[in-house]
Amino acid sequence: MKNIVILISGKGSNLKVILEAQREQGWDARVTRVFCNRVDAPGLAIAESFGVPVTLLNHQDFATRDAFDQSLLSEIQSEQPDLVVLAGFMRILSREFVDYFAGRLINIHPSLLPSFPGLNTHQAALKAGVKWHGATVHFVTSELDVGPIIAQGVVPVHNYDNPHLLSERVQAIEHIIYPKAIEWFLKDQIFLQDGIVSVIPPQSQFFY
Ligand code: GAR
Repeated sequence: MKNIVILISGKGSNLKVILEAQREQGWDARVTRVFCNRVDAPGLAIAESFGVPVTLLNHQDFATRDAFDQSLLSEIQSEQPDLVVLAGFMRILSREFVDYFAGRLINIHPSLLPSFPGLNTHQAALKAGVKWHGATVHFVTSELDVGPIIAQGVVPVHNYDNPHLLSERVQAIEHIIYPKAIEWFLKDQIFLQDGIVSVIPPQSQFFY
């Protein structure tokens, strides 16, 4: 049985689909704890509705970014996680944190990386006039939004789109690719070589 912890800051829609997949697909894993850095995050209620314990670590209660990261690191260490899942966790993590969980720390980003790293990805995609947009699940490294790509999901961009419409379409594909990537990880099907992720036995890491 593998231990998963999930870090959120907001709505928690990815948290919800992950908890549903765990329950419905009978993963040999349990989400031992959800960590959240915002007291007003709607995702807190989702964790509670699934009976998952929550630790609220409000970053504003810490004098420095390092102090917050240190506390988060030691709280998560005590869960002895096999996998740390960032699901809309909107804090940049320190190099020490990322290095400690290297190879077992994954994130979902709302763009087709390496396009549009950082914030406001839907606005950036519309501004660039791209016709395809999407989401990426990747291993986290100390460079922001750059780690090895595990899965990508693609959505069309329409000429009537606005950031809200586009974000809804991207979230729908996120809800497919994130549980899938986690399932591969839990089944030890993910292999990382020279910064490239493959899944064994081979299957598409591209979704649309
Ligand atoms: C998701 O769209 C995720 O890709 C994004 O936050 C959203 C969280 O939604 N993450 C980032 O922007 C990380 N840089 P959720 O709270 O409904 O899962």
